[in-house]
Amino acid sequence: MKRNNKLSFLFFLIVVVAVFTTFAIISAEARKHHYKKSKPEKHHKGKGGKHYIAPGSATIPAPAPSPLPHYGPYPTGSTIFDILSFGAKGDGVSDDSEALLAAWKAACKVPGATVEIPAEFKFLIKPITLQGPCMPHLVLQIDGTLLAPPEVGAWPKSSLFQWLNFKWIHNFTIQGTGTVDGQGSNWWGPYNAAYYVQKRSKHIPGMKPTALRFYASTNVTVRDIEIVNSPQCHLKFDNSGGIKVNNITIISPESSPNTDGIHLQNTRDVEIQHSNIACGDDCVSIQTGCSNVHVHHINCGPGHGISLGGLGKDKSVACVSDVIIEEISLQNTLAGVRIKTWQGGIGSVKNVTFSSIQVSNVKYPVIIDQFYCDKKFCRNQTEAVAISGIKFDRIIGSYSAQPIHIACSNDVPCTDVDLVDIQLKPSFGYQGSRQALCWNSYGKSQGPLVPSSIDYCLIRESGSVKRTAKSHEHAC
Ligand SMILES: *[C@@H]1O[C@H](CO)[C@@H](O)[C@H](O)[C@H]1NC(C)=O
Ligand SMILES: *[C@@H]1O[C@H](CO)[C@@H](O)[C@H](O)[C@H]1NC(C)=O
Ligand SMILES: *[C@@H]1O[C@H](CO)[C@@H](O)[C@H](O)[C@H]1NC(C)=O
Ligand SMILES: *[C@@H]1O[C@H](CO)[C@@H](O)[C@H](O)[C@H]1NC(C)=O
Ligand SMILES: *[C@@H]1O[C@H](CO)[C@@H](O)[C@H](O)[C@H]1NC(C)=O
Repeated sequence: MKRNNKLSFLFFLIVVVAVFTTFAIISAEARKHHYKKSKPEKHHKGKGGKHYIAPGSATIPAPAPSPLPHYGPYPTGSTIFDILSFGAKGDGVSDDSEALLAAWKAACKVPGATVEIPAEFKFLIKPITLQGPCMPHLVLQIDGTLLAPPEVGAWPKSSLFQWLNFKWIHNFTIQGTGTVDGQGSNWWGPYNAAYYVQKRSKHIPGMKPTALRFYASTNVTVRDIEIVNSPQCHLKFDNSGGIKVNNITIISPESSPNTDGIHLQNTRDVEIQHSNIACGDDCVSIQTGCSNVHVHHINCGPGHGISLGGLGKDKSVACVSDVIIEEISLQNTLAGVRIKTWQGGIGSVKNVTFSSIQVSNVKYPVIIDQFYCDKKFCRNQTEAVAISGIKFDRIIGSYSAQPIHIACSNDVPCTDVDLVDIQLKPSFGYQGSRQALCWNSYGKSQGPLVPSSIDYCLIRESGSVKRTAKSHEHAC
């Protein structure tokens, strides 16, 4: 009897110690891996916290962890995958790429998961690909800062195309109050303000990375975040569709070359709205293969304005259609709204409306340039990307070089061009040309028109001109 009591007490003690140890280990693990999907099935093997001890065995049993604490993402637990829980340091110096990749991989398997980049931390991330397909409604919540490697030499030669590459993802959102910082100043090279050009440097590769790139992705939303100082383009979508960009800020210095704000290529069904963009190149650049694009309520400047093209370089096929650019405010930009094509290209630009465009000290508020050339001299060629159905409606404000510049190909005229309610005054102190220029461009104008030369800028359309233009619209 007495011996029995002693044994029971010993047994009780062992059980207490076992349960306590188990609990301590589980909670430590839970804290460590907070959100890591660490094979929860393993933990289910325990039987309600009762530890079976083989008779005569004096050893403390291996902890059989159970009951399950409520962590783990699915189905009952958190769906938040904090990069800090995956080993990120967040000090802006340590390489946190692996942590981001691990958090992404874990979240990718869980519907409605969020990868969290917490506020007040800076994460240095090397060029990486965040790849899908993932479960739907994945969110990348950027509240802190993502930093690209600042030294040009730190970028592998094979990874110069982009920094953060999002590939094959659908139903995905990037949001948050944080910043994506491309730390690109070493890529920009010395800037020669007098010539408005960058001096070439042999230490800087010809190809420079885009900060955020989406490739072959659909139903993607990017909102609220700030993207700054990309080595080159800030936000690019290619071979994608169903894109929404809302309430973002893009900033890089005016002296940074080729730093487009948002760049679209082979991408359809796009809405870009309520954003502020200041950079060294186009605020929004729409390239070949884009259709059904709606850009509105954008503040742009400094920069080169909102641009379709350059299209048709090296005799390539270019097709852009169904674009609406409206409610845009531009300050101190090179162009306001423009379409630029290279000579010798083929294809077409069709059905584009620019409306409610407010310009302030913009060099060329309205441009169609079918002689686009980035060298001193480009040979005149007979083929051209055909341009038709272009409406400029309510373009108002001040210019500093030329109010209207519509220069269409000698052989392929622009047709169905509308100039409606254009009111452009020279900027304060301006002395240059006040004439609207139109070359081989057919369409109609409707007042009010300032300067009044806009009224006889376009040529009235005839059936034969339309047929000529139509015959060049092949290939799309
Ligand atoms: C994306 O979400 C939509 C709407 O919730 C759904 O219909 C569609 O199947 C989802 N697509 C993918 C690839 O998850
Ligand atoms: C726009 O983004 C900023 C910065 O992230 C945020 O504070 C603000 O609430 C957002 N506005 C809207 C209307 O979503
Ligand atoms: C995109 O979203 C739309 C509407 O929610 C949905 O119908 C469509 O299936 C989605 N596409 C993909 C590829 O997820
Ligand atoms: C022109 O483009 C707009 C915007 O995408 C579209 O709603 C409209 O149907 C298009 N018009 C024609 C004639 O294709
Ligand atoms: C090309 O054509 C334009 C328009 O006719 C003309 O002004 C220009 O001088 C030509 N350029 C060359 C190099 O022939």
